[in-house]
Order: sequence, then structure tokens, then C-alpha cells
Amino acid sequence: MTQRTALITGGMGGLGTVLCQHLHSLGYQVATTYVHDSGREKRWQSEQEKLGYAGMREYPCDVTDLQACRQLFERTSADLGTVDCLVNMAGITRDSQFVKMEEKDWLDVIGTNLIGVFNVTRQYVAPMIENGFGRIVNISSVNAAKGQFGQTNYSAAKSGMHGFTKSLALEVARKGVTVNTVSPGYVETEMVLKIDEKIRDKIRNSIPVQRFGDPLEIARAVAFLLDDKAGYITGSELAVNGGLHMQ
Ligand code: CAA
Ligand code: NAP
Repeated sequence: MTQRTALITGGMGGLGTVLCQHLHSLGYQVATTYVHDSGREKRWQSEQEKLGYAGMREYPCDVTDLQACRQLFERTSADLGTVDCLVNMAGITRDSQFVKMEEKDWLDVIGTNLIGVFNVTRQYVAPMIENGFGRIVNISSVNAAKGQFGQTNYSAAKSGMHGFTKSLALEVARKGVTVNTVSPGYVETEMVLKIDEKIRDKIRNSIPVQRFGDPLEIARAVAFLLDDKAGYITGSELAVNGGLHMQ
């Protein structure tokens, strides 16, 4: 079978690293992006190599910067050819009650979590259509449709992401390209560890399965949708949140 190439934006974060490892184990050529250039990407790469995940590729790209996304596309095309699978994983939070929210917190979150999806996907979707095959997975959140105290910016961006998923899915359905959303619940990465401990404990207790998620549980859901055999699933949202969306 042809080896598929997967690009994961924000793939050096808590969820992204495990997704890169999982896809590598499944035989994908894996590429990812990083923003803050302080040698971290070299440390990340060497850590992954030590763990047995050799040959993953890293590219600098701030997803809020359209020009940087164009350069990312040029570099991945030159190195790897067509990217078959794209996972829009790059994301940030800037939580605050709306009455206290600064314009910057609003713009930064919409810019990274939603505009970033346009900037990256816009580069990769045409070659997928041309190739007659493509898989796009957008990482949203349980807090998109559900809403969360302090997350007007994040919920708006993550809900927008799923609207984007459904509309793009319609446009490319006849071309062998699927577009889906995975909406994780709370997984104990840096993003969640930033929440005040007392609030975090309250959130954990409100989750029907009574625990936070494991990054591998999210990675498995994403891999399921990226699979060649998942061609009949498009425009859908896969909730992986321990039942929190029903609370
Ligand atoms: N519902 C109702 N009222 C709430 C509330 C809630 N969920 N949370 C707080 N309040 C109330 C408090 O009881 C308090 O009321 P009083 O003034 O009457 O005492 C008031 O709101 C102020 O609360 P805080 O002191 O907590 O407000 P703050 O401004 O200091 O903090 C906040 C606000 C930073 C948003 C904080 O509430 C918080 O961190 N909340 C959790 C947000 C969250 O879940 N973020 C997820 C990040 S991880 C992620 O996003 C990944 C993912 O996709 C799941
Ligand atoms: P994380 O550890 O903080 O990772 C976030 C990743 O996004 C990092 O690799 C970061 O890169 C990258 N990133 C941030 N700004 C970027 C930008 N402008 N351009 C390119 N990349 C950027 O968080 P995580 O928990 O793994 O979250 C990953 C995704 O899952 C996010 O979209 C998040 O909203 C979503 N999610 C997480 C949870 C959860 O519970 N953890 C739940 C639901 C959804 P740098 O480190 O280089 O800045």
C-alpha cells in the first residue's frame, strides 16, 4: 500500500506529539510545525528519535501568518510531495470572562484557532482534489458547542471550525477528500494544567467517566478518520470527551 503523508500543525504540543507518534507507528510519513524557535524543535526531534520515532519532519510555521503557510506548503511539497492527510491541531486559549476580555485575547484566539485553519487548509486542499484523495481533520473542542465560562473567544473559534468542516466537506466530497472534526474533552496537557487547580478538580468531577482523557484516546480517533477506509465519513464531528458533552 502507498505510504500516506500526514501534516499535523501544532504537532509538538501535548496532543500533537502523541498523534505524531501514533501515526508514525501506523506507517505514515509524519510532518509537523513549530512556532517558537529556540532549538526546541531539535530537542523534540532527538527525543522522538530516542523513543523510536525516527524520520519525522519539522517545519517552522506560525499558522496566523498566511505567507508562512504558503512557505510551509512549498517546503513540504519539495520534501514530501503531496500531503494526503492534514490535521489542524494548532491552538491556544486566552480564557477570561467576557466582561474582562481584551481585544487581543479575542483576536489571538480567533487568529490561531480559526483563521489559522483557513491559512493552512487553503494551501493543501487543491492538490488533494487533484490527487483524488485527501483527509482533513480539524481539532475542535467539547467547549465549542457546549460553551464554557471564560471561553467566548475559544468557543466561537472552535464552533466556527466545525462550520468550516461541514461546508468544505460538501465542496470536496466528490473528489475523494473528506473533512471531519474531532472534538476532544479535557486532556491533561499544558493547556489544561494552566487552569486553576480547584476549577480543574471541579471540571474533572463533572465528567461522566470521572477522569481526564489520555492523548492516545484522541490520537486513535483522529487516525480512524484519516484511514483510507474512512472515505464514507465526512462532515462529521467525533466527540471524544468522556461524556462531558451531555452535561
Ligand atoms: N459557572 C458559573 N459561574 C462561574 C463559573 C462557572 N463555570 N466559574 C466561575 N464562576 C463565577 C465564580 O463563582 C465567581 O462568582 P462570584 O464573583 O459571585 O464569587 C465569578 O464567576 C468569578 O469567578 P473567577 O474568580 O473564577 O473568575 P476569574 O475572572 O478569576 O477567572 C476564568 C475566570 C479564568 C475563566 C476561570 O473561571 C477559569 O479558568 N475557568 C475554566 C475555563 C476552562 O474550562 N478553560 C478550558 C481550558 S483547556 C481547553 O480549552 C481545552 C478544551 O478544549 C477542553
Ligand atoms: P498544547 O500542548 O498547548 O499544544 C498547542 C500546539 O499549538 C503547540 O504545538 C503550539 O506550538 C501550537 N501553536 C500555538 N500557536 C500556534 C501558531 N500561531 N501557529 C502554529 N502552531 C501554534 O495544547 P494541546 O492540549 O496539545 O492542544 C492541541 C489542540 O487540541 C488545540 O487546538 C486545542 O485547542 C485542542 N484541544 C485540546 C484539549 C485538551 O484538553 N488538551 C481539548 C480540546 C481541544 P508551540 O508550542 O510551538 O507554540
